[in-house]
Amino acid sequence: MAHWTEDAKRLNIRYVSIKSKYELTTEASLSSDACLIVLPPSGHHEYRLRLRGLNELFSDLPIQLGPNATLIVFGEIVDLVRVHTVLTPFMRYQHWISIKRRTVKTNGDDSLPLHHFGALVYTKYKSPLRHAKTRIEYTYCPVCDKTTKDYGGKKHTYHEYGTLISDVWRDIACDLEGDLTEVIVRFADLLGVHPYEELKVLDCRQLILERSSILSKGPSTWSNVINQLDDSQTNQLMFGDCLEKLKQIPDNSVDFAFADPPYNLGKQYTGYYDDMTVTQYFDWCDRWITELARILRPGRTCVVLNIPLWAIRHFLYMETILTFQNWIVWDALAFPVRLIMPSHYTILCFSKGNPRQLPGLVDEPEILDNLRPIHTHKFIEPLAEGFCLRLNCINRRKQMDIDDRGPLTDLWWDIHRLKHNTRRVDHPCQLAPHLMYRLISLFTRPGELVVDCFNGAGTTTLAAAQLARKHIGIEISEDYHNMALTRHLEIQSGVDPFRKAERTLTAKNSPVPRMPKQRYVIPKKVLQLEVKRIATLLGRLPSREEVLQLSEYPTEYYDRYFASWGEVCAAARTTGMSESRPVVLKQAVSKQPSLFDLEQIPSNK
Ligand SMILES: C[S@@+](CC[C@H](N)C(=O)[O-])C[C@H]1O[C@@H](n2cnc3c(N)ncnc32)[C@H](O)[C@@H]1O
Repeated sequence: MAHWTEDAKRLNIRYVSIKSKYELTTEASLSSDACLIVLPPSGHHEYRLRLRGLNELFSDLPIQLGPNATLIVFGEIVDLVRVHTVLTPFMRYQHWISIKRRTVKTNGDDSLPLHHFGALVYTKYKSPLRHAKTRIEYTYCPVCDKTTKDYGGKKHTYHEYGTLISDVWRDIACDLEGDLTEVIVRFADLLGVHPYEELKVLDCRQLILERSSILSKGPSTWSNVINQLDDSQTNQLMFGDCLEKLKQIPDNSVDFAFADPPYNLGKQYTGYYDDMTVTQYFDWCDRWITELARILRPGRTCVVLNIPLWAIRHFLYMETILTFQNWIVWDALAFPVRLIMPSHYTILCFSKGNPRQLPGLVDEPEILDNLRPIHTHKFIEPLAEGFCLRLNCINRRKQMDIDDRGPLTDLWWDIHRLKHNTRRVDHPCQLAPHLMYRLISLFTRPGELVVDCFNGAGTTTLAAAQLARKHIGIEISEDYHNMALTRHLEIQSGVDPFRKAERTLTAKNSPVPRMPKQRYVIPKKVLQLEVKRIATLLGRLPSREEVLQLSEYPTEYYDRYFASWGEVCAAARTTGMSESRPVVLKQAVSKQPSLFDLEQIPSNK
């Protein structure tokens, strides 16, 4: 798959095979300002084992790098979380980029196969990562031959070549133990902007570093007694603070503990202020994670969903009391609009003690015939890479008996966020029901108990109820608690709480103001294309005053219909796209990254 970098000059790639810590530090200090370190991969069945000596390896490195330095580290999840703790006091975290593995690594039935490794990106300067605008070519569904994403009525605001790059790279695949050329070339293009000239690749895969297990022991106060809650204690929604309410749940009584906490990003919840200091936030998180771990039965899984940066910190705490199972990358299919767009969430899975075999991997598929709302989605058999999510194409594939399912790994891309969805209720960040169907089907059996301590509008407990699991949900906001209660009553009266509906929503998952619902006298698309015409005339984006003078439509429409001037100019900034496959991918052919000969520097230099 190709990428296309605008106005950039690919950096010279200099490759050094590192044999000692001394050599790593020396090479880093000689380095021009972009440096990429490759850590050794883990062996088969070693994914829980961490490289020893990472602290020492990285301790002097940040100081050696120049003030404009960008540092990228490729590695296994367990190693990158540790590297982060060493680098973060000295360098600024920019991205966790997840890169698809060419070869999926299996570990047995107690965790999902590994389908990605990470590239951590840091800078020594304080502004956002300086890099070239980079696009990833569209992909086309083999059945309908249209783009794998449905761009709906916004095609005029997208580029003909592809989407802006995000922080999940699924269009290329490499193995950490194999040839990394494609992904290194992408970084060399991405960083091909002033002041960089060279990307120095410091390959540490020949370093002799042992791996050892991460010791996790729950607190000695935890009891070994397994508790079974009776029916009066389950299938309930608790209103209140999770730290208080979790205390009411006995030790070792829950089969699946889930948390989708507030991300501490200043979201507008009702009844809760999402803006603590980082230290306060993690102190608080550690407390409810400990509670979740306490109530979990041995062998069962606790799942915490968060942005990758916060997930690193959760990981470091969770590994002290639980056992690592998976770092699931949920590529939530946002449309990138900025430079590298963070588009994924981390779903951290840790078990209490050794994990049991995952029910969703080893059990016979259930027949869920009471699940009217779900037509085609088999929760634990995801869509195979390359197929689109258009309903008419899904139905056509079904009619044609085309197998469009792939194996479930720790890289998920076939579940959309509920951003502008008609299935949304009035909560700023509710999860997609399919995400919860998948997690609950994977980690539990019918009749088992699911707990969500940040239940919000009730996605988890509703999905659990629909899948015939018992549930307990805790929520601090009375509004959301009541919302979840009402939706549970809907299930009881045979109504799908996740149905599509015309609702007036006030809560929004973005700081951009919501525009009032209105009838458009002139369609927004027509206005945006008019601005594009004016931009072509002027040779640049027009100001509001210029549109006032040159547009054939009254300015009041521009003022009333759009949330920002940026949105007015959305079509003028780009070429517009078609969802059909172009006959010849014009630019792509010349812009494809070619393989190159890495310049080998003698390692003793
Ligand atoms: C990210 S949202 C969860 C949304 C939920 N997964 C859904 O799909 O609706 C976090 C929720 O946690 C709630 N919350 C915040 N602090 C809480 C606390 N101390 N105890 C319980 N709930 C809390 C917020 O009100 C919010 O509804």
